[in-house]
Order: sequence, then C-alpha cells, then structure tokens
Amino acid sequence: MSGRRKVAVLISGRGSNLKALIEADQDAYAIALVVSNVEDAPGLAYARAAGIPIFAHSHKGLKRAEFDALVDAQLRAHGVEAVALAGYMRLLSPEFVARWAGRMVNIHPSLLPLHKGLDTHARAIEAGDAEHGCTVHLVTAELDAGPAIAQARVPVFPGDTPEALAERVLVEEHRLYPKALAELVRTL
Ligand code: GRF
Repeated sequence: MSGRRKVAVLISGRGSNLKALIEADQDAYAIALVVSNVEDAPGLAYARAAGIPIFAHSHKGLKRAEFDALVDAQLRAHGVEAVALAGYMRLLSPEFVARWAGRMVNIHPSLLPLHKGLDTHARAIEAGDAEHGCTVHLVTAELDAGPAIAQARVPVFPGDTPEALAERVLVEEHRLYPKALAELVRTL
C-alpha cells in the first residue's frame, strides 16, 4: 500500500482544476472522492472517466450547515484526510471550516490579498496591475483570506482582456494546484 493521503475535491462547474489534479503525478495524494453541489456539473465527467467516486447533491432546500454536514459525512465515509476546493461556488459553514482547519485549501485566481471574491481578472486590469496570478491558500472562516501556501504570477499585457488574462492565469493554476496540494498533504 502507498502512503498517499486521501483527498476530496469539491467542485461546482467546469472542473479544469479537478482535471489537473487528476492528471498530475499523484505520489503524495489520491483523490478518494469528488463532491459537487451542482448535480450536472460538467467537471464531474473527469471524475467519472477516472473512476473516482462522486457525491453530487444539490444544496437547494437545505440550510448551509445541513448541506455541509451531508458533505462531511461523505468525506468521513471515504476516509478523506484533506479537502481541495476547485471552483466550489458555495460559502462554507463555520462548523465545516473548523472541522477541516489546516486540511482544506482553495485556489483563487488572483495574487491574494489582492482581488478577493469574483471577477478578479477584470479587476486586475482595471486596477492597472502589472502582474496577476493565482494563490492556493488554507481555508478559514473569512472568504479568500486564509494563509497563502503557494502563488504563481503572470504578466498583464497592454490591451489584455479579462478572458485572455483568465486563460493565462488558468495555465498557471493547473501547474500550481497539484504541487501545492502535494505539499500540504506531506505536512499532515
Ligand atoms: C478557477 O479560476 C479557480 O481559481 C476559481 O474558480 C475557477 C474554477 O475553474 N476558484 P475550474 O472549475 O477548475 O475549471
């Protein structure tokens, strides 16, 4: 048996970071479960193709803490030791955040602490930033505010559109996230 740490990846949509995490050399971690709060999230196809168990369940009609408790029960049932948020578009309940403190990371498309929240690429352009990028950080109660564990930078070019900049950043996200997740689980 390998000593790989069992991780869960939580998604809501496209899942390109999930794909990168699956395709990376998983010597430090094994993806034991993919969770989606959107039952037909396109990214689930990557989990299906890789034979990874899926828990896809809508949050609609449930209180935040109730939904998070359902997810937590699934994580426990699959022996999950760390959680990677990858385009998971749900705020987490304080209970869930506390339960996974130090073991849950998120990838955010900006050089945090710059540009927390949404529309980061347009905001980087509007602000006249010379550089932009992505950050992997530990998840704490405050949105996009936990300690950063890794960053990657890209230049912002004159005349950049949010779409072009997003694409440039996404390439870096896909390189950064598997490395940062591996680093995190090695410390557990
Ligand atoms: C990425 O840009 C990530 O940084 C942000 O949401 C986007 C998710 O993309 N948190 P994908 O679903 O991984 O393709």
